Amino acid sequence: MKKNLFALDGKVALVTGGSRGLGYGMACGLADHGALVVLNGRVPDTLEARRREIEARGGKAAVASFDVCDRKAADAAIADIERRYGSLDILINNAAWGVPHDLFETTDDEWRSVLDVALDSCFRLSRSAARGMVKRGWGRIVNISSINTRISRGTNTAYVTGKTGLEGLTRGLAVELASKGVTVNAIAPGYMETEINDDFKADPPRYEWIRNRTPMKRWGQWDEIAGAAIYLSSDASAFVTGHVLVVDGGMSIAI
Ligand SMILES: NC(=O)c1ccc[n+]([C@@H]2O[C@H](COP(=O)([O-])OP(=O)(O)OC[C@H]3O[C@@H](n4cnc5c(N)ncnc54)[C@H](OP(=O)(O)O)[C@@H]3O)[C@@H](O)[C@H]2O)c1
Repeated sequence: MKKNLFALDGKVALVTGGSRGLGYGMACGLADHGALVVLNGRVPDTLEARRREIEARGGKAAVASFDVCDRKAADAAIADIERRYGSLDILINNAAWGVPHDLFETTDDEWRSVLDVALDSCFRLSRSAARGMVKRGWGRIVNISSINTRISRGTNTAYVTGKTGLEGLTRGLAVELASKGVTVNAIAPGYMETEINDDFKADPPRYEWIRNRTPMKRWGQWDEIAGAAIYLSSDASAFVTGHVLVVDGGMSIAI
C-alpha cells in the first residue's frame, strides 16, 4: 500500500499566533493534511471565527486562547489540550512581534518583552509540550525564525536577537530530543505580506525596495510557509532535525 509521507491524520497540533498571517496559513495547511489544529492567540472571538473557517473547508480545529508569555496559562493550556484531545503531537512556536526601534530608542522593557515572546515563551512551551511527546515517543516542534537572523535591517535588534536565540534553542533541543522520537526544526521566512509588515505597505518606496531585493520579485504570501510546516510536522521529515528551512524567494542568498 502507498504511504502518504505528509499525512497528519490523528495528530494534534498547537499553532501559537494562529489567528492570522503565517500562523493561520500553517494551521490551514496542517488541517488540510488531517491534523486537529488548536489555534492560539489572545483574542477569543477572532480565534473562534478562524476555527469556523477551517471547519468550513473540511478541517478539524479547536481554540486555546492565551498569551504565550503567561507561563501558568501556557502550561495549563497544554495540559488541557492533552486531556481533551488525547495528545499534543505538533507544536508550532509562531507567535512573535518586534519593536521598530534603534539601539538608543529601545527601552529595557521593550527588549525584555520582545525576547519574552520570541524566545522565552518558545522555550517554556517546548518544555511543556515535549514531556508528553517524549512519553509517547513521537513529536514535532517547529520554531518560526526569520531571515533577519542572517541579514538584519537595523532598528530591530531585539527581534533579531530573539530569533537568533530561537535557532540556537532549535539546535540544542534537536540534539537533546533526537533519540526520543521528537524532532525540532525551524522555518526562516523572508518578507511576507502580513500584518507584522503593515508599516512597509504604508510606505510604497520601502515596499517596492523589498520586492526588488527579492530574486523572485515579489513578497511572500500568508499561506506560503504552510508547505514547509507540513513537511517538518510529518513523517516526510523523519530524519531531519536541527534544520533551519529558509522560505524567502531567494532573498538571503542574493547580493
Ligand atoms: N511576515 C513576515 O515577513 C515574517 C518574516 C519572518 C518571520 N516572521 C515570523 O513569523 C511569525 C508570524 O508572523 P506574521 O507575519 O504572521 O505576524 P502577524 O500577522 O502579526 O501575526 C502574529 C500572530 O501572533 C499572535 N500573537 C502575538 N503576540 C502573542 C502573544 N503574546 N500570545 C499569543 N499570540 C500572540 C497574534 O494574535 P493576537 O494579536 O490576536 O494575539 C497573531 O496571531 C512570527 O514569529 C514572525 O516573527 C514573519
